[in-house]
Amino acid sequence: MLRRGVIPRDQIMMQWFRPMVQTLTVLGLESSCDDTAAAVVRQTEGEPAQVLSSVVHGQTELHSAFGGVVPEIAARAHAEKLDVCVQQALEQAGLTLQDMDAVAVTAGPGLIGGVMSGVMCAKGISAATGLPLIGVNHLAGHALTPRLTDGIAFPYLMLLVSGGHCQYLIAHGPERFTRLGGTIDDAPGEAFDKTARLLGLPQPGGPSVEAEARNGDPKRFRFPRPLLDRPGCDLSFSGLKTALMRMRDQIVADKGGLTRQDRADLCAGFQQAVVDTLAEKTRRAIALYLETNPAEPVIAVAGGVAANTAIRSALESVSADAGARFTAPPLHLCTDNAAMIAYAGLERFRLGARDGLDLTARPRWPLDQTSPAMLGGGRKGAKA
Ligand code: KG4
Ligand code: ZN
Repeated sequence: MLRRGVIPRDQIMMQWFRPMVQTLTVLGLESSCDDTAAAVVRQTEGEPAQVLSSVVHGQTELHSAFGGVVPEIAARAHAEKLDVCVQQALEQAGLTLQDMDAVAVTAGPGLIGGVMSGVMCAKGISAATGLPLIGVNHLAGHALTPRLTDGIAFPYLMLLVSGGHCQYLIAHGPERFTRLGGTIDDAPGEAFDKTARLLGLPQPGGPSVEAEARNGDPKRFRFPRPLLDRPGCDLSFSGLKTALMRMRDQIVADKGGLTRQDRADLCAGFQQAVVDTLAEKTRRAIALYLETNPAEPVIAVAGGVAANTAIRSALESVSADAGARFTAPPLHLCTDNAAMIAYAGLERFRLGARDGLDLTARPRWPLDQTSPAMLGGGRKGAKA
């Protein structure tokens, strides 16, 4: 008969010989642009990760009157909504803060007021509970999503396409990325958003332009295919909106206004230009990737623009032509969310990363520190 609290000898032996399989549960926070989000992700080593909850409070309505994200409004809304999101994420997961192993938070890049709101909230949780704090690069969150959703092994080629970013990356590890190329001006999501604004369509522009394009003729207007004459896989999208503005103004001058069909044709022509450009540059990025990683190549896409069906299917067929496996996250994990931040934090945590209460919010934070800085700062925050 054993006294309570005394572990039998054979069980102690079993614990000694049991392989060190570790289950980690991480709370993630995201507030770098116009979505306030919290999520709980769990993973047992060697098994697929599980998204136990993922709560996103969008701010589209708050910014709709201004034609873009207003940083001060975004930051205030994040500060007001973060604790609600955390509470809902824990409730939906059926867990409490005591069940967490760490708290991960987007520490950049993004709109600095929003990033600070998230970092302050995570620091508060860490200070109050003693949970380890993990700062996460928002772009790493997107770039590691194929591992969260499909358990993709390193290395793989990633096209990250969102409202503020567009780059080709080789993902070598949770914190190691090589950038092969990227946009030299606007990101594709930004171009979709500007196109929507020029045509009086609702924000965010991506889904509205895509919906209009379904009824349009992509061949009626001839949009440019920027930078295809230049070698490599850098991209440019700012010329597309200028071309669209000229075409729109010409129709208005000729006919006094746009018909529904004009608008649909403009959207279809614009979208086809983005699709063709991304398809050709992806072909080149795959060729570069295969030079150093010829075995079982995997091409992944992530970020809000990866929600676009035409873009997804073009990338899928380019990958198939190159004999590569193609993977794209489900739509709700393409756009900003905290599950990707919790997961990226979990990967960093497994590697032994810990941040202190001196963790700082960073407006710029390139994933590949060795590549030259990208140009300009985007409407949705600084480009990395
Ligand atoms: O990744 P995300 O949620 O936020 C950033 O980190 O930027 O991406 C948002 C961007 C917006 O510009 C939005 O217009 C675009 O993704 N987007 C789309 C689609 N859905 C969202 N672009 C094209 N087609 C879509 N279906
Ligand atoms: Zn994003």
